[in-house]
Amino acid sequence: MLRLRGSWGQHHLPHQTRAPQLRGVDPVVGQAVQHRSPEEEQSPEQELEQTERESIAVVQQWALNWSVEHLWTTDEGKRIALSYFHERGFTDATIKTFQLGYVPDQGNAFATAAIANGFNPDMLEKAGWIKRREDGTPWDFFAGRVTFPILGLSGQPIGFGARTLKSDKKLPKYFNSPESILYNKSRSLYGIYHAKKSIVEQGLCYLVEGYTDVISLHQAGITNVVASSGTSLTEDQVRLIKRYAPTVSILYDGDAAGMKASLRGIDLVLKEGLNVKVVTFPEGEDPDSYAKGHSSSEVKAHLTENAKDFLAFKAELLMADSGNDPVKKAAAIHEIVESVSLVPDLVLRSLYIQQCSSLLQVNEQAPDQRDEQVLRKQYRKKLGGDAAPTEERLAADIAAPQPTVEDLGTTPQERDLLRMLLSYGHERIMVPIQAEDGSTTEEESSVAELMFELLAVDDILFDDVLFREICRITATPATSAPPWMRSATSVMNRKVGAPPRSTYSRRSTY
Ligand code: CTP
Ligand code: MN
Repeated sequence: MLRLRGSWGQHHLPHQTRAPQLRGVDPVVGQAVQHRSPEEEQSPEQELEQTERESIAVVQQWALNWSVEHLWTTDEGKRIALSYFHERGFTDATIKTFQLGYVPDQGNAFATAAIANGFNPDMLEKAGWIKRREDGTPWDFFAGRVTFPILGLSGQPIGFGARTLKSDKKLPKYFNSPESILYNKSRSLYGIYHAKKSIVEQGLCYLVEGYTDVISLHQAGITNVVASSGTSLTEDQVRLIKRYAPTVSILYDGDAAGMKASLRGIDLVLKEGLNVKVVTFPEGEDPDSYAKGHSSSEVKAHLTENAKDFLAFKAELLMADSGNDPVKKAAAIHEIVESVSLVPDLVLRSLYIQQCSSLLQVNEQAPDQRDEQVLRKQYRKKLGGDAAPTEERLAADIAAPQPTVEDLGTTPQERDLLRMLLSYGHERIMVPIQAEDGSTTEEESSVAELMFELLAVDDILFDDVLFREICRITATPATSAPPWMRSATSVMNRKVGAPPRSTYSRRSTY
C-alpha cells in the first residue's frame, strides 16, 4: 500500500494545511483507524477496496499540501492565484482556513512531482489529478487553476473543485474531481467540516450553490453554511444536514427562472421532514456577491429578515405566476398540494395547509365571521344598494374577509369538512358502536377515519374538483401512512354509486 509520510514540507506550510490530529484518526488519511479483531478478517476484495481508499486518501492529502504550497510560495502562485483570491475579497485567513491552492499552468508540473514522489499514476488518475494521453504521458487536470478542497466530515480532503483563472469563455469555469471510492458527490456537502459545529449550535443550516458562496458567507461571520456544489441537491445530502439541524434555509440568487426550476426539485427536503426556509437575493446577486458588497451585519440581517417559509414562498410564487388564468391556477394548486402531501408529520402537514390556505383560497372562516357577513349584507340592503358609502360601511368593506371558497363555487359544507379533516383528522377519539343485540361498545378511531367512513356510508363524494384533489392527495398513503390515510384512500378511490363496503355495515350511534 502507498503510504508516503515524507516530503510534506509541513515546516513551511500554514498550519491549517496539516491533517487534524484526532484521537483514533490516522493523521495521514484523516479517517478513523479501524481496529479489527482476527475473526473479522476482510475478504481479499474488501482488502483491495480498503487499500485503494487509503491510497486515494493519501494522494488527496499530499495534493492538497502541494497545491497550498504552490499558492503561497511560488512566484506564479503568488502573482496569479493569490492575487486572484485577494481580488475576490478573500483574506489570507480565509484562504488558509479553506486550504485553497493553486496548480501551476505548466502542463504536468503536478504529475511530475507526484510520480517522482513515488505515487502510482493509476491512483493519481483515480483521484482525479492527472489524465493520460494515448501514449501514456500524464497531464495535470487542474493545470492553471485555483483549487478548492472538498473535505469529509473529519476534515480529510476527499475531492477538489478547480476554477480556471483564464477569461477564455470556451474553457469550463470549474473542473471537479471525478467520483472515487473516497468521494461520492451526492453524499458530500462542500463546507460541512467547517460548518457542522455552527449548524448544531444554531439549529439551522444555510444551503448555497457553490464554493465561493460558502467561503464569502463564512468570511462574513455566517459559518453554518454548506453547498451542494456539482449536483442538484440529493436525498443523501438532505439526510446529512438533518443529522445536525432540523431546519435548512435555502439561499437563492435573484434569477426567477432558475428559482422556479429548483423549487420543483426541492420537495425532497420536505419529504425528509426538515423545516425549509427560503431566502432570496436581489436580481443579479448571489450570496457571494451580496456578501462582498455589504457589511457582515447587513448580510446577517438580510438572512434573518428575508427568510420565508418554503411552502408559503412556493405557493406565493406559483400563484402570482398564474395570474387569473384558471388553468394555470389549478396546476399551481395541484403542485402546492402535492408538496404539502410530502410532509411526513401529520400535525405539521395540516399546519402547512392552513398556512397555504389563503393562497389556495380555501380560507378558514370562523362562524361568527360568517354571521357578520350576513348581517353586513342585510345592513346594506336596508341602506339601499346605491346609497353613498358611510364611514361605517367603508370600514366594514375594508375589514371584509378576502375571497373565500364560495368564489370557486363550492358549498360551505364541503369547505368545513375539509377544514376539519385537515385540522383534526389525525386526532384520536372513542366512537360508540351499536351492536346487533343493542349493546354499545367503544372503538378508537381517528377523526379522519370516522369522517371517511360516514361519507362512504352515505356515498358522498366532494363535488368540488379541487377539494376532491386535496383529499386524494392528502390521503395518498405514504410508506408509513397512518390507518386513517389508508382508509381515506380506499374511500376516495371508490367510484360514485359503488355499493358501500361490507365493513361499513357496522353502525355507529352518530
Ligand atoms: N459552479 C460550478 N461549476 C460551474 C460554475 C459554477 O461548480 N461550471 C459553482 C461553483 O461552486 C461556484 C458557484 O457555482 O462557486 C458560483 O458560480 P459562479 O458565480 O459562476 O462562479 P464564480 O467562481 O463566482 O465566478 P464569477 O467570478 O464569474 O462570479
Ligand atoms: Mn460568482
